Amino acid sequence: MKYIRDIGRYLIDPRMALVLAILTVAPPANAREFRLGLITPPGHVWTRSAESFGAALEKASGGRHSVTVYPAQQLGNEAQILQQLQTGAVDMAFLTAAEISNRLPEFGAFYAPYLVNDIVGAADLLRSTIAHSLLEELPKKIGVFGVSYGMGGMRQILMREQAAAVDDLRGRKIRITPFAPIRDFYQLLGAAPTPMPLASVYDALANGQVDAIDMDLELIVKLRYYELSETVLLSNHMMFPMVGLISARVWSRLDAADQVMIRDLMRSELDELIDSYVAEERSFEASLRESGTRIIEIDKSFFGSTIEQWDDMWIGRAPVLGELRELGSVLGREESEK
Ligand code: BEZ
Repeated sequence: MKYIRDIGRYLIDPRMALVLAILTVAPPANAREFRLGLITPPGHVWTRSAESFGAALEKASGGRHSVTVYPAQQLGNEAQILQQLQTGAVDMAFLTAAEISNRLPEFGAFYAPYLVNDIVGAADLLRSTIAHSLLEELPKKIGVFGVSYGMGGMRQILMREQAAAVDDLRGRKIRITPFAPIRDFYQLLGAAPTPMPLASVYDALANGQVDAIDMDLELIVKLRYYELSETVLLSNHMMFPMVGLISARVWSRLDAADQVMIRDLMRSELDELIDSYVAEERSFEASLRESGTRIIEIDKSFFGSTIEQWDDMWIGRAPVLGELRELGSVLGREESEK
């Protein structure tokens, strides 16, 4: 008995053991493991940017915060990711502005055909005060905090068969990202827009489920869609904004210093992403040309009155369109750079 009593002196009181365990194992009370969802595949520029943001946050917070990135629709499609942001089940996301426009038609104005002259114009427009004022509506209207914009490349039309005139689009099944502004554009052209997530595009093109796809140069080259095509209409007909989002619920629970740190790091990451699209657009085009794919350069005259018709449809739904058109018309590469 004496032996047992003596040993007992050296054993730690179980309550003290619990306190010690909490102090040594548990992370600081305000440490967070954030979940960031997006639909682009691993290796895509958006996915790499999300990972780089996570690494920057971990470093800046001294390891207190971390970000797990879920690419390739692991958390669902964009509509499902947005729902999870609203409940706080997902903390952050990089989503196409297309998905936001499905909830807030005002964002549809970004997809006005030929809103900007080129990718430089797209970058400048997304950095404008008007564009950023639209983000201010997001917490109140859809329960997400809009940090800033990123983007994808300008949109092009890749056809399985030869095409040279706008009539060649009539009746054609053209894959689109699922959102209304792009659907309306192709409907006005007499085509059959076919909404389809990114992940299904290659097979649909390969097996002839669609005759054409609406896509950017980066993916046309990197995912080798050009191998399934006889013509690329190099149209640059639309810009493709992305939005960095944080669940408003999650945001409201962060302390002020963390809010600033997270917002600034995500902003600067998205800004770099925009710069990288501007810098690389021409090399994507050069790679496509090297592949020998038939490229036809077209501009807004190819689409005739469709652009005005599109504006007539959307000005009521997205009144900011007027202001954006005015701004977009003066942005872009200098004549000397063209
Ligand atoms: C698309 O739907 O075409 C798309 C979505 C996200 C990034 C790039 C392209």
